[in-house]
Amino acid sequence: MAQKKNQGAHHLLNYEEKRALLEAKNQEALKGGGEQRIKKQHEKGKLTARERVDLLLDESSFQEIGKFVKHRATEFGLDKERYLGDGVVTGYGTVAGRLVYLFSQDFTVFGGSLSEAHAEKIVKIMDLAMKNGAPIIGLNDSGGARIQEGVVSLGGYADIFYRNTLASGVVPQISAVMGPCAGGAVYSPAITDFILMVQETSYMFVTGPNVVKTVTHENVTLEELGGADTHSSKSGVTHFSCTNEVECINQIKKLLSYIPQNCEDEPPHLAYNIDDEVRPQLDKIIPENSQTPYDMREVIDGIVDLDSFLEVHKNFAENIVVGFARIAGRSIGIVGNQPAFLAGVLDINSSVKAARFVRFCDSFNVPLLVLVDVPGFMPGTDQEWNAIISNGAKLLYSFCEATVPRITVIIRKAYGGAYDVMNSKHIGADLNFAWPAAEIAVMGAKGASEIIFKKEIAESKDPVAKLSEKVDEYTEKFTNPYLAANRGYIDEVILPENTRLKLIRGFDMLQNKIDKLPRKKHGNIPL
Ligand code: HXC
Repeated sequence: MAQKKNQGAHHLLNYEEKRALLEAKNQEALKGGGEQRIKKQHEKGKLTARERVDLLLDESSFQEIGKFVKHRATEFGLDKERYLGDGVVTGYGTVAGRLVYLFSQDFTVFGGSLSEAHAEKIVKIMDLAMKNGAPIIGLNDSGGARIQEGVVSLGGYADIFYRNTLASGVVPQISAVMGPCAGGAVYSPAITDFILMVQETSYMFVTGPNVVKTVTHENVTLEELGGADTHSSKSGVTHFSCTNEVECINQIKKLLSYIPQNCEDEPPHLAYNIDDEVRPQLDKIIPENSQTPYDMREVIDGIVDLDSFLEVHKNFAENIVVGFARIAGRSIGIVGNQPAFLAGVLDINSSVKAARFVRFCDSFNVPLLVLVDVPGFMPGTDQEWNAIISNGAKLLYSFCEATVPRITVIIRKAYGGAYDVMNSKHIGADLNFAWPAAEIAVMGAKGASEIIFKKEIAESKDPVAKLSEKVDEYTEKFTNPYLAANRGYIDEVILPENTRLKLIRGFDMLQNKIDKLPRKKHGNIPL
């Protein structure tokens, strides 16, 4: 009788049956929330969690962890609906042969919502990534906290936020938002180093359009409130706005190619043989008239290895350009004022954008190249009342604190406080170059002359002519790189066409740089 009762129990299966059971479970796990829901996901123009993993990782490299995890909730009928994996695919694999850890939320299982078990899976791979020093990539597609689970789901989010923070500056963290990401859930991507979003199919906000309408009476669509274009241009929350998921995943791979595995590692260095590095086209970019704009990207393209510039935060605060590139195979981070947008002035957004980028590069041993053409800080009540003082200080602080190799080239203007802030010698830059057209002064010639020669101009018979004479005098004396070079603030005035070679040699010379900050718990950046 007892024997009969136990016939169906697993421990009585023979070996072949046990293998078949494992195979059946593996197959079940691949199905996520079922064919109908997968179909719906595809109809929305979205890939499934597993399709995304396959696209991201090198073929056959994915090693899944926690495939058979199920939620433990019983309320609201959840005891009757359990899926293997519980709405998130987690594990590790390689991208271009380099180890990464990843999680990919499965919208077909309870809308990818985060349960206690789902959070535990993410936490497990984050802990592994930290201990083993490799990037964490999150592919987010989730309806947020699993509503039926209540506080344990909120706790699960907090467990992740905590690890995001501890991992910050230890291993690179990249978040792709490929579906909904709402409420408190946004704060995990927000803490990570880079966010990518997909146009039309992803959105991020703390409160959705319905709440916005109730509270502020604004009518706004999902896409307007928190779509990829909004966050890449208006808020700056996302660093990359991608037209589709394939582009998004390719962008993650590209980004990884410039950055090291962890804070103790060096960025990948491609083999390169120095050849003819003179770039005559650099001599033709700066217009004759110093008020005429040009595109700093042309300077960047002329300096770095062919097609190697990956611009970050392209559509936000366009008055500063930041991104990764290679120079003679070496990965570098570039910060350049952009004269083609608002004359390259430093304002709140551009300061914050550049500061965050500088801090990423410094955390992960990416040397910095700073290209300067800045008329100063942006004047106005809007800027002052929104704290250009504290926000501009973020960029200053970030440069001051950076211990990676740092080279500056003053391309044209370097005026006022912005001269100091933009990686000047005084705040720790290692090599400072200037092009012959550089203008380094406290302020522009006209404004300066009106102040310092005020009395002389007022007393003159022809104030207009006098002002013009004084402007010329000031220009000749101050708006050049030689006073700075006389003092050693500029190490060398170089011809534009030789810039690439100077930088190759400079970064080579600095490759073993060791610099330490004073011992402290941590600084107090003016947030
Ligand atoms: C449980 C959820 C869920 C959730 C979606 N689902 N969100 N289940 N908890 N949070 C389930 C749905 O019941 C549905 O199940 C399936 O996922 C797909 O959802 P749909 O609504 O059919 O999809 P769609 O029309 O595309 O709409 C997606 C959505 C919507 C906009 C995300 O589902 C939604 O508004 N969900 C709730 C979002 C939310 O308020 N979350 C809590 C946010 S607060 P079936 O069985 O029908 O397939 C939060 C706090 C985090 O997250 C705090 C951290 C500190």
